[in-house]
Amino acid sequence: MPSSRYFWFLWQFKLAVCQLSICADKEQNIRHAREAIQTAADGGSKLVLLPEMWNCPYSNASFPIYAEDIDAGDSPSSKMLSDMAKSKEVTIIGGSIPERSGNHLYNTCCIYGKDGSLKGKHRKVHLFDIDIPGKIQFKESDTLTPGDKYTVVDTDVGRIGVGICYDIRFPEMAMTYAARGVHMICYPGAFNMTTGPAHWELLQKARAVDNQLFVATCSPARNPSAGYVAWGHSSVIGPFGEILASTGREEAIFYADIDYAQIKERRMNMPLDHQRRGDLYQLVDLTFTT
Ligand SMILES: *[C@@H]1O[C@H](CO)[C@@H](O)[C@H](O)[C@H]1NC(C)=O
Ligand SMILES: *[C@@H]1O[C@H](CO)[C@@H](O)[C@H](O)[C@H]1NC(C)=O
Repeated sequence: MPSSRYFWFLWQFKLAVCQLSICADKEQNIRHAREAIQTAADGGSKLVLLPEMWNCPYSNASFPIYAEDIDAGDSPSSKMLSDMAKSKEVTIIGGSIPERSGNHLYNTCCIYGKDGSLKGKHRKVHLFDIDIPGKIQFKESDTLTPGDKYTVVDTDVGRIGVGICYDIRFPEMAMTYAARGVHMICYPGAFNMTTGPAHWELLQKARAVDNQLFVATCSPARNPSAGYVAWGHSSVIGPFGEILASTGREEAIFYADIDYAQIKERRMNMPLDHQRRGDLYQLVDLTFTT
């Protein structure tokens, strides 16, 4: 939980979303992500968003092999993010990588401020488990442990809430972020070829329009020969549910101009917050501490 109510941040800035192709070579993935951040920063972005599991193939078997111990400082992937944030003076929402901590593995997003400091670490809260006999089985919970915390960070580009992939399906989490004054929710995520076309855009728009804030998502580019085929279609959605920028299945770095004044305007025009019926329902944040 950010400690101060007031902090300085840019109200208008350029956001870059890096929908990267991921391969089996971790060093190569790190080099590739570094180049993407460089391109994004040189293109004038102040905030850079990376995909879910950008340093490894999205597979149960890969997670333990590619995992890094972030807290122990034994993490070439997050070191690169920190170095790039500092040298390019950008805020980075570092997608996610498999994180090793003690005997546990997490699906973890590191957030770096433009001074290279680690602002926060989101461990995917809702794990993706499917098991359709004879068809498809993917159980993150076979290998991963769920996080047990919300992640809200104050950055140079506003107050940002982070969720990973399946986390986007839970409106309570986004509502809690909105109640905590978040301007934008970033969801690195890799929806599949069924849920992608059915729900990916819908969920982003729903989270944005329900809460009247910005939503940005970043998927890996699609690799049809991968074990897990990602839908792609990373997007940036405005507080009226409008698509500000999006891409298709291929690798792409694309940009959106963010203006937080839009949040104020939409909330003034449609003051949902003042019209809620607290006598009929309440949002309860069970982890809130002052
Ligand atoms: C996932 O990994 C665990 C442990 O490495 C293994 O026991 C399990 O069979 C794997 N599941 C799938 C679907 O590959
Ligand atoms: C994607 O996941 C859903 C469950 O969330 C499952 O029903 C579907 O079969 C999966 N599709 C593919 C192509 O893996």
